[in-house]
Amino acid sequence: MDPIYMAGPWITEKEIETVLDAMRTGWYEKPYYYVETFQKEFAAWHGRKYALMTPNCTTAIHLLLTALGVGEGDEVIVPECTWIASAAPINYQRATPVFCDIDPKHWCLDPESVERRITSKTKAIIVVDLFGNMPYMDELVAISERHGIPLIEDAAESLGSTYKGRKAGTFGIGSTFSFHRTKTLTTGEGGMLILDDDHLFERCTILRDHGRRPGGKMYFNEEVTYKYMPFNLQAALGYAQFKRLDELIARKREIYEWYREGLAGVEDLQLNAEPENGFNSVWITAVVFGKSHEMTKASAMEKLQALGLPSRPFFYPLSSLPAYPGREEEGRRMNPNAYDISDRGINLPCAMNLTREQTDAICDGIKTILSVKSAAAGVR
Ligand SMILES: Cc1ncc(COP(=O)(O)O)c(C=O)c1O
Repeated sequence: MDPIYMAGPWITEKEIETVLDAMRTGWYEKPYYYVETFQKEFAAWHGRKYALMTPNCTTAIHLLLTALGVGEGDEVIVPECTWIASAAPINYQRATPVFCDIDPKHWCLDPESVERRITSKTKAIIVVDLFGNMPYMDELVAISERHGIPLIEDAAESLGSTYKGRKAGTFGIGSTFSFHRTKTLTTGEGGMLILDDDHLFERCTILRDHGRRPGGKMYFNEEVTYKYMPFNLQAALGYAQFKRLDELIARKREIYEWYREGLAGVEDLQLNAEPENGFNSVWITAVVFGKSHEMTKASAMEKLQALGLPSRPFFYPLSSLPAYPGREEEGRRMNPNAYDISDRGINLPCAMNLTREQTDAICDGIKTILSVKSAAAGVR
């Protein structure tokens, strides 16, 4: 069996030809041809008015928070279990991330927890569509509207998912995507912000390029801001991948189905949930071991590793990380689901080149490590 990789893209001749075209033609007359084309079509595909490509998703979130005026002393709600990139831009702005609990079914933000943590300082709610799963968007959007607090959708992991017929990336004031080399659609590093509001779009455009107004006076910076501009070669790769989006998503879904079939006979296991009246594009398949298995993520990863099988931990609760010192006690108290689920969850390989033989080997490995435990229990 070939080596199993946790993540990796599916690159065809189409991508290679498109990047070569950008190399050959994307300089004098058309330095941003692929950036502009990719942005326009990506926004249109989502039914959003505007798209801004960025060096990565982290910078897209940062742009939006800055444009919304989030600053020192403000609070921004974010789920306990997500990649740190959802929260770090809050800290860049010297605001405080308020970690909220996750729902046991889809592992995304729990609306009740959000409602409990809103204060007069709350300036935004960042919702994360974790692993392709979708949160209870209706309730979260209603909370955001009721309190007049903007909702940001971090859709980094959910390109192609839907909730009640609506695409991930169409919720809230703005949504962000990641095109990291591990993502369903990749540009190596890259991201996108999509939104509808004219003023916010203008602000983000200026913030993205050293305080320059598009079409404004040359070298005439209106303020000191960031340099979060994308590059045409990156965009060429993204655009070629975007043209193949249906097959990229179908591939992700196929891998998920293989895991589901392979693990169908194992009781008390939870895989990515299907969104309410929607579709899960399953960027990565995660498994949460039911309590009857008495299997922690650390132990599962170690045992799978011993069988030569890779896996990754479910995201640690952010409040438990050294990056956020002094937050754990409050996190454990306020967000019990996040601590409980994270402790029992692992991510399975999601590389685009996975074969059925490989996913079957991983499913067999999971069955082995679980039955090792029950065999030992039987002896006792
Ligand atoms: C949920 C989530 N948000 C944000 C990001 C940040 O994306 P990037 O690496 O493109 O900055 C990621 C990337 O892994 C992610 O998974």
